[in-house]
Parts: sequence; C-alpha cells; structure tokens
Amino acid sequence: MSSDSLNNMPGWNSQKDVSKVTHAEFNGETNATYAAKAFKDQIKGRTILITGVAPKGLGEGTALAIASGEPKLLVLASRTQSKMDEVVGKVKEQYPAANIKTVVLDLSSVESIEKAAAEVGN
Ligand SMILES: NC(=O)c1ccc[n+]([C@@H]2O[C@H](COP(=O)([O-])OP(=O)(O)OC[C@H]3O[C@@H](n4cnc5c(N)ncnc54)[C@H](OP(=O)(O)O)[C@@H]3O)[C@@H](O)[C@H]2O)c1
Repeated sequence: MSSDSLNNMPGWNSQKDVSKVTHAEFNGETNATYAAKAFKDQIKGRTILITGVAPKGLGEGTALAIASGEPKLLVLASRTQSKMDEVVGKVKEQYPAANIKTVVLDLSSVESIEKAAAEVGN
C-alpha cells in the first residue's frame, strides 16, 4: 500500500506523516507473525505480557507470533486458566523452548488486577 492510499483510508489521520511511521508497508494483509518479525529486536530477550488469551482468538495468534521472536518470558494474562493452558500447549508445540507464565486476570476487577500485577512482578 502506498503512502497516498494509506492517507486516503477512512479513519486514517491524514495529518500524520506516513514517512515517519516505522512500517508504512503494513496493511490489512499483514499478519502477526510478519509484524513480530519486523519488531524482532523489541521482542528478543524481553518479557512480554498478552491479555485476553483464548484458543483460536487474537491472543493465541499473538502468543504464537511473539513466541517466534524468542522473548525471555511470555506472560499470558487472562480470565480462564484452562483456556490459557490450551494456548500454552499450542505455543509449546511450535516453540518447545518458550518460557511461558500464565496469570489469572479479570480486568473488570481491581482486586484481580492488583493480584495479577503482584504475580507478574515476582
Ligand atoms: N478475531 C477477530 O478477527 C477480531 C477482529 C476485530 C476485532 N476483534 C476484537 O478483538 C477482541 C478479541 O477478539 P478475539 O477473537 O481474540 O476474542 P476471544 O477469542 O473471545 O478472546 C477474548 C479474550 O479476552 C478475555 N477477556 C474477556 N473479558 C475479560 C476480562 N474482564 N478480563 C480478562 N480477560 C478477559 C476472554 O476471556 P475468557 O477466555 O475467560 O472468555 C478471552 O480470553 C474482541 O473485542 C473482538 O471483538 C476481533
């Protein structure tokens, strides 16, 4: 997609100078794995936390993509432990060396958020 067509997309802020966007080539066809490759230096060796992780959802796709970039630790934080466990299994199938931690988190509860933050910090 050219800079001109990006500037003409509905909802796009045409005041934004796309020449300053780090990856102006990203478009509706760009998948998570491609984006993870493009940001590999920001993933490798880092701790990355993903919220809202369920099988076949965006969280799973994101977890697989981030795992491909060899983070130091991948934290999955979501409401249902069994769904996170399923996603961990899928990630481990493809990336057996991935270091993954799961944290139960209900974003509608301040108490749960504080508990999860303390767990992540440990
Ligand atoms: N999939 C798509 O192509 C697509 C496209 C555009 C926009 N979206 C939007 O992107 C979002 C995610 O989509 P998805 O397909 O990944 O949905 P999904 O498979 O239903 O996953 C949503 C995840 O968020 C978790 N969640 C919901 N409420 C939460 C809370 N209060 N605290 C913590 N976690 C919570 C759910 O937990 P549980 O496992 O406990 O239910 C689930 O794991 C949705 O808002 C969707 O409308 C999706």
